[in-house]
Amino acid sequence: MFVSRPSLLAGLGLLTTSTTAYFLPETLGTLVTSCTVPKNTTGDDDTPSVAATLAACNNGSNAQIVFRANETYNLLTPLSFRDLTNVEFVFNGNLSLPDNVTYVESVVGDSTIYPGHWLTFAGENTGLTLTGSQDARTGWFIGHGELWWPMVNNTSNDYRPHFFSIQGTGVRLRDLKVYNPVAWTFSLGGTDIYMTNTTLDARSSDPINAYPFNTDGIDTSASGLVVDGWVSWNGDDVLNVAPPATNVTMRNIVAYGTHGVSVSCSSGTGGDFLFENAVIYDSLLGARFKGEVGTTCNLSNVTWRNFAIFNTSYPIHFIENYYDQETGIPSDTNTSLAAYASNFTWSNIVAFTSADLQDGSCVSDPCWTYTEGESSQKSLYIMCHDAAHCTDFHFDDIVLFGANGKPGEMDCTGLEGVEGMGIPCTNGTLPTQQ
Ligand SMILES: *[C@@H]1O[C@H](CO)[C@@H](O)[C@H](O)[C@H]1NC(C)=O
Ligand SMILES: *[C@@H]1O[C@H](CO)[C@@H](O)[C@H](O)[C@H]1NC(C)=O
Ligand SMILES: *[C@@H]1O[C@H](CO)[C@@H](O)[C@H](O)[C@H]1NC(C)=O
Ligand SMILES: *[C@@H]1O[C@H](CO)[C@@H](O)[C@H](O)[C@H]1NC(C)=O
Ligand SMILES: *[C@@H]1O[C@H](CO)[C@@H](O)[C@H](O)[C@H]1NC(C)=O
Ligand SMILES: *[C@@H]1O[C@H](CO)[C@@H](O)[C@H](O)[C@H]1NC(C)=O
Ligand SMILES: *[C@@H]1O[C@H](CO)[C@@H](O)[C@H](O)[C@H]1NC(C)=O
Ligand SMILES: *[C@@H]1O[C@H](CO)[C@@H](O)[C@H](O)[C@H]1NC(C)=O
Ligand SMILES: *[C@@H]1O[C@H](CO)[C@@H](O)[C@H](O)[C@H]1NC(C)=O
Ligand SMILES: *[C@@H]1O[C@H](CO)[C@@H](O)[C@H](O)[C@H]1NC(C)=O
Ligand SMILES: *[C@@H]1O[C@H](CO)[C@@H](O)[C@H](O)[C@H]1NC(C)=O
Ligand SMILES: *[C@@H]1O[C@H](CO)[C@@H](O)[C@H](O)[C@H]1NC(C)=O
Repeated sequence: MFVSRPSLLAGLGLLTTSTTAYFLPETLGTLVTSCTVPKNTTGDDDTPSVAATLAACNNGSNAQIVFRANETYNLLTPLSFRDLTNVEFVFNGNLSLPDNVTYVESVVGDSTIYPGHWLTFAGENTGLTLTGSQDARTGWFIGHGELWWPMVNNTSNDYRPHFFSIQGTGVRLRDLKVYNPVAWTFSLGGTDIYMTNTTLDARSSDPINAYPFNTDGIDTSASGLVVDGWVSWNGDDVLNVAPPATNVTMRNIVAYGTHGVSVSCSSGTGGDFLFENAVIYDSLLGARFKGEVGTTCNLSNVTWRNFAIFNTSYPIHFIENYYDQETGIPSDTNTSLAAYASNFTWSNIVAFTSADLQDGSCVSDPCWTYTEGESSQKSLYIMCHDAAHCTDFHFDDIVLFGANGKPGEMDCTGLEGVEGMGIPCTNGTLPTQQ
């Protein structure tokens, strides 16, 4: 159908060429010692041995800490490190969170033992590298999310664990694989962070009654972050980047079931984001921006390019009145406030809208994604507060298809009559595609 669009094919060609290696500038100096984490022989919790191994292995600097392949290390208690220098963790074995929901809830509810994530690398880490295994049979982080997902309606779910918090300067994360996280997977902060070849598998066997709620891939406010090579099945954003993040690039993405390669904001200033080379299947949202209702913030220089989005409810979605369905719009919301978005570009995107404008995360009527004017014929939503809040927008090589296979439509408000965007703000098909 889009054979006549050479730039689009070139963009997709990038994705079909097999990648031999991901570029990741190493930050590790000489690792003075390499130590293997022993399995606990007297009890079930392997967390104390990890901490003890690190302490015994040059005490948190110039060391490599190895988890043996084909073992399962049980992290019954949260694992927390800070201020590491020149340390590599090599995850050849599986690392598992406890499979006892009540127990995990009791830990998460106790702030004296739970610092906010199950695995924490906090403080001034420099030259920190987490290396997973390229062997698909081992080296997984296992969250047991499947035990939690069916309970959306029968538990307050206040005590779901967040998986990773990683921050520092010169952080390298490669080949990490996560299986069934309970919810939020990676929180990344700091500067000069590279993450390559990541796998996130949060597939539910029953996505209606056991939806993998809040299984975000990456939430970040980092500066100088490159995420290259990503495959996920999840139930929330692939990535959610928000101020004060700057200089964030994510490329070479394959995603199923997602809520978007997303930028959001509710305060602060950020920008210089590039998202490129993505194939998104069977999802709720694709290239996404959400400005929180009743707040303001500044974002500039944001680009989504070379995206192919299939069977997705809202392939390209930009709104400035987002609110959390669980909390609703607070009564004192000042709806005159909105995000300032400038120099946003959507380039070389083909989108196929799905017949269904919902997924298993819709537990309210209307669904939390409800957008005025929505339709399964629409593939592109640009809902601006007004032209002053959305400046210097650019669209090129956008090809849309509605659920019926006919040219897809746009839903637009706030930019009526604005020239120079590449397309007009219209409710209908794009002139370039008539
Ligand atoms: C082994 O696990 C138990 C809990 O099951 C824990 O109390 C103990 O500290 C662990 N021992 C080592 C050496 O990690
Ligand atoms: C190990 O490092 C910690 C934190 O950096 C420090 O408090 C402790 O004194 C060090 N221990 C030894 C034996 O060097
Ligand atoms: C892990 O198991 C695989 C498959 O059985 C085997 O090929 C590999 O050598 C094992 N690795 C180690 C370190 O035991
Ligand atoms: C490690 O986890 C993967 C994914 O859940 C699983 O297929 C594999 O059997 C596990 N390996 C061990 C040694 O438990
Ligand atoms: C699960 O954890 C709870 C709370 O720690 C404990 O009371 C219960 O016995 C555990 N269940 C199993 C099957 O171990
Ligand atoms: C990425 O990791 C997977 C295992 O999860 C491995 O099979 C593959 O070879 C890796 N790809 C690259 C380019 O490193
Ligand atoms: C919640 O409901 C699910 C699905 O009916 C059930 O499997 C689970 O055991 C329930 N959990 C609790 C804590 O009631
Ligand atoms: C939760 O309850 C709501 C309201 O009763 C219902 O519409 C929804 O389908 C339920 N969701 C799940 C996952 O059970
Ligand atoms: C952006 O981040 C990358 C990766 O950390 C870094 O190489 C580059 O220098 C940064 N660019 C700017 C302008 O800071
Ligand atoms: C815009 O963002 C891109 C991607 O992060 C960056 O390479 C470029 O330098 C930025 N441009 C300006 C003018 O800041
Ligand atoms: C706008 O964004 C584009 C694409 O990232 C960049 O090349 C350009 O320099 C930006 N312009 C300004 C004025 O920041
Ligand atoms: C498109 O429809 C929306 C609501 O569905 C409306 O607010 C907007 O003004 C319309 N835009 C144009 C350009 O007619």
